[in-house]
Amino acid sequence: MSKAFIDLFYLAAAVLFILGLKGLSHPRTAVRGNLLGSAGMLLAIVVTLLDRRIVSFETIVAGLVVGGLIGVVMAYRTPMTAMPQMVAVLNGFGGGASALAVGAALEEALKGGFVEEVSVQFTVAAALSGIIGGVSLTGSGIAFGKLQGLIKERPVLLWGRHAINLVLLLVCLGLSVWLVAEPTSSTPFWILVGVAALLGILVVIPIGGADMPVVVSLLNAYSGLAAAGHGWVLNNSVLIIAGSLVGAAGFMLTALMCRAMNRSLPNVMFAGVGAVVATEAESEDIYAGRVKAASPEEVAMLMEGAQRVVIAPGYGMAVAQAQYAIQDLMNLLESKGVEVEFAIHPVAGRMPGHMNVLLAEANIPYEKLKEMDEINPTFRQTDVVLVVGANDVVNPLARESDPSIPIAGMPILNVDQARSVVVIKRSLSPGFAGIANPLFAADNTLMLFGDAKKMAMSLVAAFK
Ligand code: TAP
Repeated sequence: MSKAFIDLFYLAAAVLFILGLKGLSHPRTAVRGNLLGSAGMLLAIVVTLLDRRIVSFETIVAGLVVGGLIGVVMAYRTPMTAMPQMVAVLNGFGGGASALAVGAALEEALKGGFVEEVSVQFTVAAALSGIIGGVSLTGSGIAFGKLQGLIKERPVLLWGRHAINLVLLLVCLGLSVWLVAEPTSSTPFWILVGVAALLGILVVIPIGGADMPVVVSLLNAYSGLAAAGHGWVLNNSVLIIAGSLVGAAGFMLTALMCRAMNRSLPNVMFAGVGAVVATEAESEDIYAGRVKAASPEEVAMLMEGAQRVVIAPGYGMAVAQAQYAIQDLMNLLESKGVEVEFAIHPVAGRMPGHMNVLLAEANIPYEKLKEMDEINPTFRQTDVVLVVGANDVVNPLARESDPSIPIAGMPILNVDQARSVVVIKRSLSPGFAGIANPLFAADNTLMLFGDAKKMAMSLVAAFK
């Protein structure tokens, strides 16, 4: 196929990618967006395979079959709650694959293969892909381990970590200069990938589990950049376009999450938020003698007399998989004429859109899910707010300006303004930020202690 034709198909693939991303921006068009993006990727792969530069098809086809099968099995077997881990793994493999492919291209080029000369553009792009690919591979691996519970979720703060990371980064830059100045051997490249891989581990290990979505999104942006660098190396326009789109989308999502938490990216990356947990004495100051526990029957009575109930879900709903029981509760309340809506905080749970995905899984109509800015003004007219396994996102301490409070300045759901608040959680343990929550000791709050699913089912039983 001539170069002009290939470029034309690549352009069509790029348009499909952009339409796909546009579709993904709303739940109603997300499935179509996903299909359009996948179709674009299929087109790009097929056209690339028709390019005359392909030497042998056997390995490529074998890779497509094996990789495709693993992908299908993973996609079917991974529960919705484990999606962040799955994204982390795919992302890490993407970065690692870019580094390996660039390494292979470099080896070929050094042997006098498909490029005429190993230009500065080639080696600079190779070095960038090597650094970013190595960091994305192991950083995403650590993110996977934390989200999957294989390694400690709380930040691991090594002594002198900033200095060690700086040294490793400088070593990477030194190796890059070596590769660019003396493009006669691939040795600096492979050492570079190894050092970058070590850097990836050390950068991510001091970050807390709940901040992993931000890290995964950032590493995703990096792996996009690695792919774009790879595109420069191979002079492949669709790889440059796809990589840039992934990079831009990843950086935008990272910025949106940071803004939703009112935290800067350096704070997420370097502050080790979540490492310090409130001591019992500190919590005792807030809770002593003020926390009121209630039974499911008492809460059911309270809700039965309400006109409007707002449900504010958080990470605990995901852990307990309580969404179906919550749907039963919603149906029951509505059958008794109670108006029910859901308050969705942008960073509730452990991934962007976590609550939307879980509630959609339980067929809760999308119209009932209200974003924070929309629902906040309505809490004063709400009879009962049912907080289901949420903690930080409803913590009034966020309104304080004290910088020692890790969530100071984070916009929260103003559930404390409702007439009554019922909080379902198992104990008075803190949430991700590790601080006590005065909401649990407020005059208008009742605690319903227990697992979110069991308690939601008990509420349904109490109603019946
Ligand atoms: P958290 O503040 O982490 O609190 C979750 C609460 O759920 C815990 O206090 C826990 O209390 C309770 N829980 C756990 N298992 C439960 C179960 N089986 N049944 C009932 N309750 C259970 O969650 P949140 O309010 O959703 O806040 C999210 C946090 O993650 C915020 O700090 C946010 O900044 C951070 N974060 C999120 C994102 C994204 S994109 N979502 C990104 C970065 C950071 P018990 O142990 O007492 O039950």
